[in-house]
Amino acid sequence: MRQPIIAANWKMNMDLKSSREYVLKLKGLCSPQKELVLICPPFTMLHLVGQLLAGSPFVLGGQDVFWQESGSYTGEISPTMLREVGCQWVIVGHSERRRILHETDEMISKKVEAALKNGLRVIVCVGETLEERDRGEGPARLRTQVEAALALLGPERSVDVVVAYEPVWAIGTGKAASVEDAVAAARLIRETIAAKWGSEPAESVRVLYGGSVNPTNAAGFARARDIDGTLVGGASLNPSEFSRIVQAWQG
Ligand code: PGA
Repeated sequence: MRQPIIAANWKMNMDLKSSREYVLKLKGLCSPQKELVLICPPFTMLHLVGQLLAGSPFVLGGQDVFWQESGSYTGEISPTMLREVGCQWVIVGHSERRRILHETDEMISKKVEAALKNGLRVIVCVGETLEERDRGEGPARLRTQVEAALALLGPERSVDVVVAYEPVWAIGTGKAASVEDAVAAARLIRETIAAKWGSEPAESVRVLYGGSVNPTNAAGFARARDIDGTLVGGASLNPSEFSRIVQAWQG
């Protein structure tokens, strides 16, 4: 049985005051049970949010990480720095970073490896653009991204690395993928992992869906056996909407 993950990706939103109010409100609205509920604030709010979450069943995650542990890398944050402020998880390879900041598959594979080596667990994002989808290149793109993301890892990492299928055309557009399309992508991702690591490790990797998930459509994804949770952007900024998405996974 794969433990579901519901992750709030705040992106570049909120401030210290609103994060404090958010966490206090969320704790009163829902309580993670069997599922893992992750809160991923911007770097400047990690310390505060980590303190507010301490002792609660919610878990802290970063939105990005660099692959070196320290040194002359202006503006970057290392895996050990994330650990120090209480992060157990980190998101890597979000399409906004691939697209706007030109992160390559190679950079992403180095980030994934470094994060795991330093004791973080990783959600690595993959997903095709609308143009790739229209040209029928979606599956090939997904395969390439998954292979690259896992290139430096062995099958023993199958419980520490999670793949989030996030089609670029569904992110922040209000147009979520259909459950059928998300399931097809999740199966393709698992087949790609099985070809690399064998079927047993592939079965233990969790595959999430992300892209315009909201309290109304969450239950459909939650019922799909191949989808092990969700990465939520816009709807995660509102604690009551996010708590309803968590509850969709609680049945
Ligand atoms: P969205 O973002 O829920 O706002 O579509 C999802 C994501 O980018 O992780």
